[in-house]
Amino acid sequence: MTTKQVYSQEEIQAWLCSHLASALQVEAAEVDIQQSLEDYGLDSTQAMSIVTQTEKMLGFEVSPTLLWHYPNVEMLSQRLAEESAELGGADVATDVATDKAVVHKPNIVKPATLDLGAEVVLDAAIRPPSQSFRFVGQVDNIFLTGGTGFLGAFLIQELLQQTNADIYCLVRGDDITAGKQKLQKNLESYGLWDEEFSPRVIPVLGDLSLPYLGISTEGFEMLAANVDSIYHSAAMLNYVYPYPALKAANVLGTQEVLRMASLFKVKPVHYVSSVAVFESSAYAGQIVKEDDDFQHWEGIFLGYSQTKWVAEKLVKLAGERGIPVTIHRPPLISGDSRTGACNTDDFINLVIKGCIQMGCFPDVDYMLDASPVDYVSKAIVYLSRQKESIGKAFHLQHPQPKPLSYLIDWISSMGFPVEMIPYKQWQAKLINDLSSADNPLYTLRPFLLEKWSDEQITIPDLYLQSRRPKISCEETLNALAGSGIVCPPFDSQLLMTHSAFLIQNGFLDIA
Ligand SMILES: NC(=O)c1ccc[n+]([C@@H]2O[C@H](COP(=O)([O-])OP(=O)(O)OC[C@H]3O[C@@H](n4cnc5c(N)ncnc54)[C@H](OP(=O)(O)O)[C@@H]3O)[C@@H](O)[C@H]2O)c1
Repeated sequence: MTTKQVYSQEEIQAWLCSHLASALQVEAAEVDIQQSLEDYGLDSTQAMSIVTQTEKMLGFEVSPTLLWHYPNVEMLSQRLAEESAELGGADVATDVATDKAVVHKPNIVKPATLDLGAEVVLDAAIRPPSQSFRFVGQVDNIFLTGGTGFLGAFLIQELLQQTNADIYCLVRGDDITAGKQKLQKNLESYGLWDEEFSPRVIPVLGDLSLPYLGISTEGFEMLAANVDSIYHSAAMLNYVYPYPALKAANVLGTQEVLRMASLFKVKPVHYVSSVAVFESSAYAGQIVKEDDDFQHWEGIFLGYSQTKWVAEKLVKLAGERGIPVTIHRPPLISGDSRTGACNTDDFINLVIKGCIQMGCFPDVDYMLDASPVDYVSKAIVYLSRQKESIGKAFHLQHPQPKPLSYLIDWISSMGFPVEMIPYKQWQAKLINDLSSADNPLYTLRPFLLEKWSDEQITIPDLYLQSRRPKISCEETLNALAGSGIVCPPFDSQLLMTHSAFLIQNGFLDIA
């Protein structure tokens, strides 16, 4: 038995810089300790390798998710130095089987719990001008965020078809030409681009995470003076980043959108939120309706969901100040029910692909309530154009969800050899059987295995049926009645369309 060595922040920092430099094949002096690790383009294998080497040096287990929770070298080394100090003097023994140091760790303190309620602060300057708002069904100019994303592409297409408006799209890019290409390529990737509509899709260079959305003051004011309505769909959908890393884009970006809505003339804001606002344990097993309040945030663990809760609260506050707001809360969004086109990088697709490769799914109580993206986008655009929608929230939940076993039976019937195994066994396979990033679960492993809350439960545990609210979509279905917009049933035809797309584009290998 030995006593654990304590490393200072400086020592760890120098060590990390040298290993990062060698992974990236640059000089250690070129590593900027404040630069986000993500910006270095570390792939998950390189990240895992740095984690493994760091464990060896420090002599204790390092959670790979620390790389995301403390996203640059400076923050990471500070956190690791704290852990090293907490473990200083701890007993270290050698595991005879593995010859690895085994440290009897005290409880590791996670970053201080956030008070999300205190994060709900809307700039006092965001107030509509005195003249009152008059609803108009046909608008000439729309400002839209998130047009280079999955849902955004379908919103653009629907708005192009249902209105005659020009759509000013916030886009990150080097110049206007690149911005337009990015929008066009995105719509093309989902089979939605129509050259005829091209002149109505107008890129606006900017960045959600910056004041005035990263648009020049004049540009921002010009848009504020001329646009008639706003669709805010952009957000960073990162499930591993903590709240502080996502706040600028998801929370402060929403504040900037509301600023635009209040400047010069009041404009309606159609905000794409998420059913994640009800992720607090207070709602577990409860029926939540569209106009229910969502004051509880305790027990929302994902940084992404935390930002969606705060951002929607800001939108609500803006509504109370007189800005006409409508809130749309989708569940997980699945592919186009007509073509199967979907975002193959999204979490659910990667998990399904990984489980198929592993030959097993966890036998858990989970209902598939994802709604196809064409339903979600059509519903949002239709509802946004009804005067009665102002001030309301809508749930775009699938009205007839199916259990996970339905999907697995279907995957088996397609010829993929998969079985359902007990959750603990599935977790063990995740830890012991995956050794290469060829399986997407390998990269997602740290996220799937990380333990949260006092109960030390994993993310999949958190989303078990018993811990989730029952999202009612009754009022939304009433509001859509007569529109002809119906959520496609979750049946074999829908699954066939989805899988045909995934197989044709090479995401799923049927051989
Ligand atoms: N997908 C789902 O299952 C789901 C479920 C519930 C709710 N939602 C909500 O639906 C909305 C759309 O989701 P999605 O699936 O379409 O996401 P997505 O495909 O990841 O697209 C996100 C969009 O946000 C943009 N964006 C992110 N950070 C930005 C920044 N700093 N500045 C400017 N634009 C930025 C992205 O632009 P770049 O192309 O430049 O990255 C992209 O256009 C989000 O608000 C999300 O919270 C989605």
